[in-house]
Amino acid sequence: MTNRGGIITGWGGYLPAGVVTNHDLAKTMDTTDEWIRNRTGISERRWSDMGPAALGVEAAKIALDMAGCGPQDIDLLVFATCSPEYILPGSSAIVQHSLGLTCGAFDLGAACSGFTYSLVAAHGLLNMGMNRILVIGSEQLSRIIDKTDRNTAILFGDGAGAVVLEACEGEGELLGFDLGVDGSAVNILYTRHDEITHMDGKEVFRRAVRAMVSSANLALERAKLTMDDIDWVIPHQANRRISEAAVSRLNWPMERTSATVETNGNTSAASIPLALVAELDAGHIKAGDHVLMCGFGAGMTWASAVLRWGGVTREGGHGAAAYAAELPS
Ligand code: COA
Repeated sequence: MTNRGGIITGWGGYLPAGVVTNHDLAKTMDTTDEWIRNRTGISERRWSDMGPAALGVEAAKIALDMAGCGPQDIDLLVFATCSPEYILPGSSAIVQHSLGLTCGAFDLGAACSGFTYSLVAAHGLLNMGMNRILVIGSEQLSRIIDKTDRNTAILFGDGAGAVVLEACEGEGELLGFDLGVDGSAVNILYTRHDEITHMDGKEVFRRAVRAMVSSANLALERAKLTMDDIDWVIPHQANRRISEAAVSRLNWPMERTSATVETNGNTSAASIPLALVAELDAGHIKAGDHVLMCGFGAGMTWASAVLRWGGVTREGGHGAAAYAAELPS
């Protein structure tokens, strides 16, 4: 990596009202709470009237406040979503205006891998001279599914997660990453304009585990680390069984693996930032900890990143300026 990196100095998550439990779904389709929990680990998800822009704004406000940033302080907004309000313009334009930002903004579409793709892209732009980038993953997946289809409706939910990424001298938090796509698998998971989402669940499951494991291993290799160095794993929250299968192949315990899928369902580009926020706020990630994010999504895309946590906590802690000097050895 280069000598100008990034450190996350603010984070926020937003889950809208509108909890839909498995019991609620069992009233409208041929399914049961037990089946959904056994096959997916999901108990509930949120279905909201708020679009991805509105959800993202709420998450971003928390992250900006924590980072102590005003709208003028942000140099760029990267908005990861696969459920944008419009074909054009990007949802990022709505968010940019709502937050009063004066910077450029773009949407990034890499489905459930979108947040990790965005985080990596943002690091590159910090290295090219930007100082603070707002990265948001936000979805209103309830709008693009058939809410009566038991194959898909049980899985997907709405929500948003955001981080403020600030430039620092030195390596920064991102130690290694892997981004990939296999475009021959478009037909296993797709949504056409103004249509609902189609999915071959079994095939997605099979490929997802393989993709996550190989991508995680590549990111680790590039970070010059092994799983022995990792403290916390944040897999894309699609299905608890997918996370279990992937981390067991990495010889990693579920006890140190995020499992927000139980309450959030699969929120696509929002799933990793929402899980990151949950683990940070629970105090599970501490200064110097190595965090592995790994995910997959429609495309079929995959993305992994290895971060060394810089020590910022919600209560305060080290800012970007102090990061390089105070990095635990
Ligand atoms: N409730 C009750 N029964 C259901 C059901 C539901 N919601 N959905 C399917 N079934 C039935 C099927 O019809 C099938 O019945 P049959 O044996 O009589 O034919 C049986 O349950 C098994 O279905 P199957 O599709 O084999 O289940 P599965 O174990 O593969 O689980 C998924 C289905 C969708 C939960 C699972 O394949 C999955 O999570 N795949 C990955 C999806 C994903 O992550 N997508 C997002 C990627 S970012």
